[in-house]
Order: sequence, then structure tokens, then C-alpha cells
Amino acid sequence: MKRSGRSNPAGGTPLNSEGDLNISPRRQAWLNANLDAETRRWLDEDAKYFLHQSLSTPCLNVLTACAGPYLQDLQGKRILDFHGNSVHQIGFGHARVIEAIQQQMQTLSFCSRRYTNIPAIELAKKLAKLAPGSLSKILLTPGGTGAIGIALKLARVATGRFKTISMWDSFHGASLDAISIGGEAIFRQGVGPLLPGTEHVPPPDAQHCLWGCGGECTLKCADYVEYVLQKEGDIAAVVAETVRSVPFIPPKDYWKRIRDACDRHGALLILDEIPNCLGRTGKMFTVEHYDIVPDMLVIGKGLGGGIFPLSALIAREDLDIAADRALGHYTHEKNPVACAAALATIEVLEQERLLENARKLGDYALTRMRAMKQEHPVIGDVRGLGLLMGIELVKDRQTGQRATDLAEEVLYRALSKGLNFKLSMGNIITLAPPLNITQEQIDGALDILDACLSEATG
Ligand SMILES: Cc1ncc(COP(=O)(O)O)c(C=O)c1O
Repeated sequence: MKRSGRSNPAGGTPLNSEGDLNISPRRQAWLNANLDAETRRWLDEDAKYFLHQSLSTPCLNVLTACAGPYLQDLQGKRILDFHGNSVHQIGFGHARVIEAIQQQMQTLSFCSRRYTNIPAIELAKKLAKLAPGSLSKILLTPGGTGAIGIALKLARVATGRFKTISMWDSFHGASLDAISIGGEAIFRQGVGPLLPGTEHVPPPDAQHCLWGCGGECTLKCADYVEYVLQKEGDIAAVVAETVRSVPFIPPKDYWKRIRDACDRHGALLILDEIPNCLGRTGKMFTVEHYDIVPDMLVIGKGLGGGIFPLSALIAREDLDIAADRALGHYTHEKNPVACAAALATIEVLEQERLLENARKLGDYALTRMRAMKQEHPVIGDVRGLGLLMGIELVKDRQTGQRATDLAEEVLYRALSKGLNFKLSMGNIITLAPPLNITQEQIDGALDILDACLSEATG
């Protein structure tokens, strides 16, 4: 069904694009109803000693354990985690990764500057082998934000230009350079001036399209990227998430069109797959769905096996052009324990055939989600790529207006029933389970959502 296109493409919910906020009255009501005195005492301590910010402290609950797809809270309650901050492709605390970490810690636990180590070299070699095209030169960082910063610097060195094009509503990290290219008010408002020359364009969001495509992308958003490339004339790089988790999954030709436009206008293409790399979408890298090769690919999150913070910039071989500068210089750049964890993680993905599982169970879940859409008029759209899935809640299917209040209610109901997930853009139930999830666990999660939707709308 084609939309009337009357919904406000800019959203109208500027502060909850990245996730649910901790200042909502529903949060407080949930705490009062669900937590015991000891948990509340620890939450008070957390609130006393940590700086408060909108996406963490004051926190929701206190965790004591995690294993496989489950978290466990202080009251001993098990929570199926379809959020996991996107670090849990192989689940939490995988035995193979713990074993690799323990072994590595007993020999070389850190790598001082000027030295390298075999796990780091093996990891770089493995990533170069896995990455598409000539993406084969690596820099490691402890976090994704740092890797994005390096990509921006390398693009400046390579092109002699400084401007970027990135997307509204995107997230590339919380540092000043990353929020300058990011497109979320909750990170950008009131902390400027941000980096100059950071042009923003609308994302490929067919459900809330500025050009009114009404749910079927006509690629006008991709053409607009070329329009800006041409008008500016001196853009260093287009930086974007290959697939935004999970508000939008661009159509097949979207990246091809932007890749060609970048080539025509001398700009580099930097794709951020920090949360959605390593099999999440059913391919090792999400860009493999689009048959193009970016100039730089940034990965992270689950790379450290969900235990160690580790990210990587994987650049085109011929971008190895800054030998006389310091692009990264992070203390834990080649941490051997983190690298051993990453090698073990990739081994698990390959040996347990988790990409295949992501494709199979992603298809299964999407079929069930489509059936749920028939039952619940508040579901405006369901979408998925592998095990990155979204259920968009709307006030009205015709207008596509975001049902943010309802989505928050569904979230807190689901948390009470033991299911955790992210809300994106305030109204999109974003489901990202571990890739070794079982069909029974997927069914369990969707049963909870089904019940919560019925309760919240009944
Ligand atoms: C798309 C994207 N880019 C960058 C980052 C930043 O990564 P990190 O938190 O490891 O610095 C994130 C983290 O959520 C992300 O989702």
C-alpha cells in the first residue's frame, strides 16, 4: 500500500532517535513496580557517583550475569537480550572467546608502543582476507568512535579536502568529530560549534521520505547526495551507516548510485558498520548485500567478542599514504588480548555457521512479523536483513505518524516479561538477537511482543 506521505519526515521526536530516554515517567513507574529495595539502593549509588546523562545514568536496572542471549539482574530474573548494544553476535561470554582471552592474558597481556604482536598481525590478516575488494589495510582502535575519527582524517589526507556528507538521524559515535557528522539532536544540541563543512542529507527512509516516496524508495534521496556532491564540488567523503539500525534498509541500487556519484565527484565513500558487521545481516559485512566496495569500512562492537572493546578501520590498500602522520595513536591499539578475542570470535562465526543461521532465522522471524502486522493495525511496517529487524509502530498506516508513546509502553511491558530491545526513532522496535539464537527463542520473543502489543492497544 502506498502511503499518503503526510507524515512529518523530520520525525518530531528529536531527542529519542538513538533510544528510549531515562527521564520518562514510564521509566519511573516501571522501576517502582519491578525492582526490590536492594536493586534500588544500588541504582541510587549509581546515580550518586556517575554523571547523569540521558542514555545511561540514572539506569534501568542492575545486572549480575550474562550468558548466551540472556542477561540476569540482581533479583535473579533472566532477560532475553535482543539489544546487547550490538556486541553479542556470538552471544555473551562465549566459552571459546573466554578461553582465548585467558590464554592470551597469561603470556602477552599488553603490547607496548614500538612493538607488535602475533594476535594483532593475525587479526589484521584475517580482516584483510574477509573484507571485500582491495580493503586490506587496517588500523585498530579500542572504540568505534575513534575508528571513525581516523577515517575522517585519512579522507582529508587522501583528498586534500575537508568537507563531508552524512545523514540526518545517523550515529557515528559520541565525540565532537563523530557528532558533527552524526545527525541526532540528543548528541548535537547545545555543544557546538561542531566541525565545519559537515553537510547533512536525508537518510534513505522510505517510510518517512522527504520526497514522499510512500514506502517504496525511488532513490531520489540517493540522487540528492549527488546533487550536494556537485554543488559543493569539494567533498572529501560521504560517511554513512550501510544500514541504519534499523530505521531504514536502503534498496539494492542505493549504494551503487552513491558509489558511482562519489567516483564522479572525487569523494571517498566511508561506510560505518560498527554495529552491523560480522554476520549481523547474514553476510560478514553488510555492504556485501549491495555489490559495491567502499573506500573505507569501519567495524567494531562485536569484534571483541562482546567482552573487549575493539574496532577496526579497513581501508583500500592504496590509501596507505599517511606514514608520516599519526592517524590513530590509541594506547590499546594492538592490545593482544582484544585481538585474541576477535580472532576467536571470527572463528566461532565461521565454525558455528552463524551467518547461515542469521539468514535462516531472520527469514523465519520476518515471516512471523509479517503475520503480526496483519493482526495489529498499529504495526506500520516490518523489515529485516538477517537478524537485524524492525517493527515500526504508527498511529495511522495512511500517514505513517510515529506511535512513540505506544512504543514506549510496549517496551516497558516487554521488559517486565523478560525481553530487552532497542527503540529507534522513538517508534521502531529494533530486534538484534545473537546470531546463535534458536527458533524457540525467536518465537518466545515474538510471543512476548505480540502479547504486549495486544495489551497496550486493547
Ligand atoms: C553506527 C555506529 N557508529 C559508531 C558507533 C560508536 O562506537 P563506539 O561506541 O564503540 O565508540 C556506534 C555505537 O553505538 C554505532 O552504532
